[in-house]
Amino acid sequence: MPDAARRTQAQAGQPPSYAKGMSELITNIGELMTQDGELGTLRNAAVALEGERIAWIGDAGNAPAADTATDAQGRAVLPGWVDSHTHLIFAGDRTAEFEARMAGESYSAGGIAVSMNATRAASDYELTRMALGRVSEAASQGTTYLETKTGYGLDVEHEARSARIASTVADEVTYLGAHLVPAGMDADAYTELVCGEMLRAVRPFVSWADVFCETGAFTPEQSRAVLTACREAGLGLRVHGNQLGPGAGTALAVEFGAASVDHVNFLADSDFDLLAQSWSGWDGGAGERGTVATVLPACDLSTRQPLAPARRLLDAGVQLAIASNCNPGTSYTSSVAFCVTTAVLQMGLSVHEAVRAATWGGALALGRETGTDEDGKRAVGSIAVGHRADLHMLNAPSATHLAYRPGMPLTHQVWRAGVVQPHR
Ligand code: NIG
Repeated sequence: MPDAARRTQAQAGQPPSYAKGMSELITNIGELMTQDGELGTLRNAAVALEGERIAWIGDAGNAPAADTATDAQGRAVLPGWVDSHTHLIFAGDRTAEFEARMAGESYSAGGIAVSMNATRAASDYELTRMALGRVSEAASQGTTYLETKTGYGLDVEHEARSARIASTVADEVTYLGAHLVPAGMDADAYTELVCGEMLRAVRPFVSWADVFCETGAFTPEQSRAVLTACREAGLGLRVHGNQLGPGAGTALAVEFGAASVDHVNFLADSDFDLLAQSWSGWDGGAGERGTVATVLPACDLSTRQPLAPARRLLDAGVQLAIASNCNPGTSYTSSVAFCVTTAVLQMGLSVHEAVRAATWGGALALGRETGTDEDGKRAVGSIAVGHRADLHMLNAPSATHLAYRPGMPLTHQVWRAGVVQPHR
């Protein structure tokens, strides 16, 4: 039965007709924070899964029978985290750089070269094993959909290899050849490589492109060249912007219609206006989409930067995502829960806003917030009939505990596309 018919059936309160042996009922959910505009947050709820999809949502008292049942015993259930910004394809260690930073040195893009050398020296097997380990670490903490980038290869051979490996471990892959100009190379010549031969080599493995537009990385002109070439190659765009200081990153992201601009620590008043205007024609479904502002709280703490202005962005009408930015230099954590906790305790977001930014907001930044099986790709980041069955059960009665009990291991069980993820 197509999803549209199944949704109507579920809304009419009728029991779903499951394929045999494919259904699971999760019942006695104390708080079901769906992040779906119509369903909102439900109490004493149940969710039925059929294979990889959500088949039914409603009151636990009316829940239909299924092949298997899980009793949530009053626990809270959220959508799985959608981590829309990570850099997982790397080898090597940068503890010394972190220690120097904690002793007062400031972050600079130059540390990327340390990871580049170690990444180039690692075998395919080692890189894949380490990346898979990081993905499984993230999944065990509630992440069910994950983007990752190249950016530690920085020549044609190693960027293509990073993209290929990334495509085997992550849901979405972003080309970040424009991460750092390798030592000894002319910046304009390297930019040409990124826009030409390197782009052609990674293209089969990636659907997004990114550029680190910052002093010490790529100038606005070089960034413009990268965004233009990657757009012509059919890639969706994102920008690392305004991480280390004021600059052109956010304005460029909006000008190019990038799906997201990430970091956004040092925004000018005009950047807030541009981001807000980018969403003015969007009604939540149809209409032109704007540029999501992705904040990276763990990175801000780990680099001792001012926290990104998440509250002001939301108040200005900008769509917000929260992501881990897991990488060896600025944010060596895949804990989206930690980022959500920080966003509530230190960035002035409510728990609902922070969870929304780390689920539905991440999906919006990746263009995955809508979709059913008729579209070929199920929506992630919210809980509704026909969406992918990506669920995160907390060992707590409400999502508020993510901030109320900071640092506690609250993940109880995780389903990714209907499959329970192993505990680590
Ligand atoms: O998103 N800012 C650029 N890229 C990464 C850090 C890269 C590194 O230092 O290894 C980031 O923070």
